[in-house]
Amino acid sequence: MCGIVGTIGTSQSKNILLKGLERLEYRGYDSAGIFLSEDGSDELVKSVGKIADLEEQIAPEMSGTMGIAHTRWATHGQPSIENAHPQFSTSERFYLVHNGVISNFTQLKEQELAGTTFVSQTDTEVIVQLIAKFVEQDGLTTLAAFQKTLGLLEGSYALMLVDKENEEQLYVAKNKSPMLIGLANGYNIVASDALATFDVTDQYLELHDGDFAVVTKTTVSVFDQDGQDVHRAPITIKIDHAAATKGTYDTFMLKEIDEQPAVLRRISQHYLANNSSINVPAELLQLMAQADRFYFVAAGTSYHASLVGKRLFEKYTKKPVEVGVASEFGYHWPLLSQKPFFIFLSQSGETADSRQVLVEAKKRGLSTLVLTNVVNSTLAREADFHLPLLAGPEIAVASTKAYTAQIAVEAVLAKALGVQLQERLAVEWDLQQQLSLAAVGIDRVLAEKDKFAALTKEYLTDQEHAFYLGRGIDYDVSLEAALKLKEISYVHTEGFAAGELKHGTIALIEDRVPAIFFITEKLTASHTRGNVQEVKARGGNVVVVSTEETKGSGDQFVLPTLTPELMPLLTGVVGQLIAYFSTLQRGLNVDQPRNLAKSVTVE
Ligand code: F6R
Repeated sequence: MCGIVGTIGTSQSKNILLKGLERLEYRGYDSAGIFLSEDGSDELVKSVGKIADLEEQIAPEMSGTMGIAHTRWATHGQPSIENAHPQFSTSERFYLVHNGVISNFTQLKEQELAGTTFVSQTDTEVIVQLIAKFVEQDGLTTLAAFQKTLGLLEGSYALMLVDKENEEQLYVAKNKSPMLIGLANGYNIVASDALATFDVTDQYLELHDGDFAVVTKTTVSVFDQDGQDVHRAPITIKIDHAAATKGTYDTFMLKEIDEQPAVLRRISQHYLANNSSINVPAELLQLMAQADRFYFVAAGTSYHASLVGKRLFEKYTKKPVEVGVASEFGYHWPLLSQKPFFIFLSQSGETADSRQVLVEAKKRGLSTLVLTNVVNSTLAREADFHLPLLAGPEIAVASTKAYTAQIAVEAVLAKALGVQLQERLAVEWDLQQQLSLAAVGIDRVLAEKDKFAALTKEYLTDQEHAFYLGRGIDYDVSLEAALKLKEISYVHTEGFAAGELKHGTIALIEDRVPAIFFITEKLTASHTRGNVQEVKARGGNVVVVSTEETKGSGDQFVLPTLTPELMPLLTGVVGQLIAYFSTLQRGLNVDQPRNLAKSVTVE
């Protein structure tokens, strides 16, 4: 959510910042801005819309020896030039970019900045005006003013400040929003995500919550929140160029959908290749074996993957599982069992709603594990244990391969724990074979892209509403498929338990309304077929996705059969392709749907 990048000490600043912004655009993309400086001349450019628009407005002769840049996902104040970052002080001496939310900005405005004229509606402008006030009126040094201002802020922030009277340094701070200082060859860079800068360095200092830093061309001084010097050891973050770029694809989403068989094979190789033991820490399994109940906590697609995780865990470990939406769980904790164990699922590892539950769980002394795709993320660092999803960078806003990876890693964990507990079903389950069958199954689904494109053209063009229906595991995947379709194509789509249809929702079925049924569960297949008839009788346009075991005549897609709880590895991909093609056919931006951000770092 919002992206930040800064450089100091390189004559390539403009190019590095623009490239960085393009790579961060997936984190927020309603407006962007850049401040560049070179030989005492400065340029501030902001624009609403894409980074390409910003680039066009920068004077061609300006290449910059330092600069800060920002891509925004609006929280306070609509997308506009005034609200885009960098925000600046009335004196136009201080420029600031910010990721996060300052919850007490209204009080600060009233208490500390009465009489100041604000040009934006952002919380960020309050920060830069405060710093300016402490320097210009109270006579503090910029560093002291920066530190004093940080002490007044409540909420989350990753910040970067430029003082035009000393452009040899950048001031950087972090609290609850990610921020990295990259050590490049002969200069330094700052970024909220290593994706922005992976082609100029793989060496980073990671700021901790409350840290602030002064960065020059050749030095980095880091201080803790009390202003004491602290040492932060460099870490290496390697990002594979091919994985982080579109390559020959037009969209990241299709590339990421296509990568899923490889992701499953990678997970199998990493966790299951050793026949004698599963590659999960023994200490983690011991702790999990002692738990009497698991609490899965996640948001969005990761929440939907957790629903599948519950089925896998309860079947193979025989331990009960509760699944919570992070934003609800955090403020409405259920009564916990005697020995609870918390499992968080998060592609980004930065989701604020999930993080606040993790922080509280840790405060209560509970055991925590995170399954995440970003191993150096905040959640990975803060949980007792983390397991990698190994999906590779996921850039399209709609999560695809991370969902698949989450289910596969949940399966690995369910199997490992079940074996530890000597549960017969788990011991006998050949998961390696199942993941291999799933990879081949996804390949088969992907080979039918033309059929999906034709189907969406026939069924979804001109439709404003659609339904996904299923029972059991097919209901879980209906929720995910509906989210995928609505979030990128803007077709209002709901996922329902098929049996619930007659209890209300059927009132919405009318002529040509698309109703996509997943029927992979043998136990309930005949009941769901009854629901298909009910929809058809009311004029709905039915699509049925079944398996070789549950197929009926006229089903549009028949999938290979896997362990029932693993069927979302295939039905999930069906939902992804339907969403992808209907969005493409509507001429919409597949990778960057409106109003969304990839990593949601505000509660
Ligand atoms: C939907 C999507 C979101 C995320 C959610 C949680 O396609 O991507 O619903 O799943 O914002 O994000 P993570 O998994 O990063 O915690």
